[in-house]
Amino acid sequence: MLQPVGKLLLFGATGDLAQRMLLPSLFALHADGLLPKGLTITGTARSDHDDSGFRAFARHSLEEFLPDDLKDDSVVESFLQRLDYQPLDASTLEGFDALKQKLGDISNGMAIFLSTAPWLFGPTIQGLQSAGLAGENVRIGLEKPLGRDLDSSREINDLVAAAFPEDRTFRIDHYLGKETVQNILALRFGNSLFEPVWNAQGIDHVQITVSETVGLEGRAGFYNDTGALRDMVQNHMLQLVALIAMEPPARFDGTAIRDEKVKVLRSLRKIEGADTAQLTVTGQYGGGAVKGQIVRDYATDLEKPSNTETFVAIKAHVDNWRWHGVPFYLRTGKRLAERRSEIVVQFKPVPHSIFAERGGSLKPNTLVIRLQPEEYVRLLVMAKQPGLDREGVRLREVPLNLSLENEFAGTRRRIAYERLLLDLIEGDPTLFVRRDEVEAQWEWVDGIRKGWETQDTKPKPYASGSWGPSASVALTERDGVTWNE
Ligand code: BG6
Repeated sequence: MLQPVGKLLLFGATGDLAQRMLLPSLFALHADGLLPKGLTITGTARSDHDDSGFRAFARHSLEEFLPDDLKDDSVVESFLQRLDYQPLDASTLEGFDALKQKLGDISNGMAIFLSTAPWLFGPTIQGLQSAGLAGENVRIGLEKPLGRDLDSSREINDLVAAAFPEDRTFRIDHYLGKETVQNILALRFGNSLFEPVWNAQGIDHVQITVSETVGLEGRAGFYNDTGALRDMVQNHMLQLVALIAMEPPARFDGTAIRDEKVKVLRSLRKIEGADTAQLTVTGQYGGGAVKGQIVRDYATDLEKPSNTETFVAIKAHVDNWRWHGVPFYLRTGKRLAERRSEIVVQFKPVPHSIFAERGGSLKPNTLVIRLQPEEYVRLLVMAKQPGLDREGVRLREVPLNLSLENEFAGTRRRIAYERLLLDLIEGDPTLFVRRDEVEAQWEWVDGIRKGWETQDTKPKPYASGSWGPSASVALTERDGVTWNE
């Protein structure tokens, strides 16, 4: 664990992420008194603001994106006093000395957050180095995408490593900042109930769904070059797989947790070549209606035809003793029926039903971990329906319900970036992605991509507002499994 720093330097300070997430998150931390006293925040980007121009920009972002219950003029004013700004074209070395002047004394340590296009990472790091802004008391946070395949991700990692050693490099996956994602660790390792059955003996299969209703959201170029596999599976979904499948770490710290996660990622069975046709499904949204709104098809949104997948479903395996023979079904896509992130753990049926002769039928237990938009953990168990059962035993599946929203009703739902920015400032790497994790993720995803290329796989059309192409249903039904919808 590193020491807290006295300064935060934000690259991409006038970008979309800064407006929507970073400035509101920093404000919320400030309002709760969680930022180190005296911490100053320097924004930098190409836009030609001075300090007061940037403060006005930040005020405007807060007005637009802060939840109403957090808005408080006097607190906003005190937050703005922490901010200043230096315009900079990070693609050339020229402006970095002026940036250094602006930053002044950084002897109390500095955290840098790069929320810029990845092609700027190289020049930015060079610029920081040449201006002497990459010293031992400086750490760096990197926003995704970290490459588009294993090779380019290695290039970025090498480039960063030339200036910042791994223990000062904080790779962000914002899913790890989500309260409910961290709750997976609490559920698994804070209770003795689950661990004895959390394996191939107890579990039939796992489903992970991250479905979105949105389409391209103003970033058509980026998304079309990226696709659902790189955009969502390589990072967020594989992190969820790792948290569900990992062995119990010895302690709650960055080394122990990440050591266990990387073992899972490296145990993912490769899906390559012709196997991709059996084990993966790709789709692209067509026209349709999402939540009652008529929407257009992908090619019309993009204004050109494209073979980019906006949906992917995968049948994956973790090849180790614990998970031998247990499929992990993953699916994610845009313009689907609902916004929903959830993990469904389907347990094995009882070995022998004592109710069958009396007409009672059983369903295996299911654990549903809903990450968003609702936050709950629901265990479906069998119960006897009230009655005298003269025509046979009547059993029904009923939920044991833990609604995190109700249980922790007085607690504000934090933005994922609040947690991650605070950890970056305080120097706790536990919820950041280590280099070996990112590279293991890319290696697995690259196999699938190359398989699609050699098989000339084209995404199957699906209606907007549906749950994806019918082939995704077939992927699980072949194994007698139905997606939880
Ligand atoms: C981002 C992807 O990483 O995650 C987006 O680039 C996606 O395409 C977003 O919409 C989803 O995040 P969340 O927190 O809304 O589930």
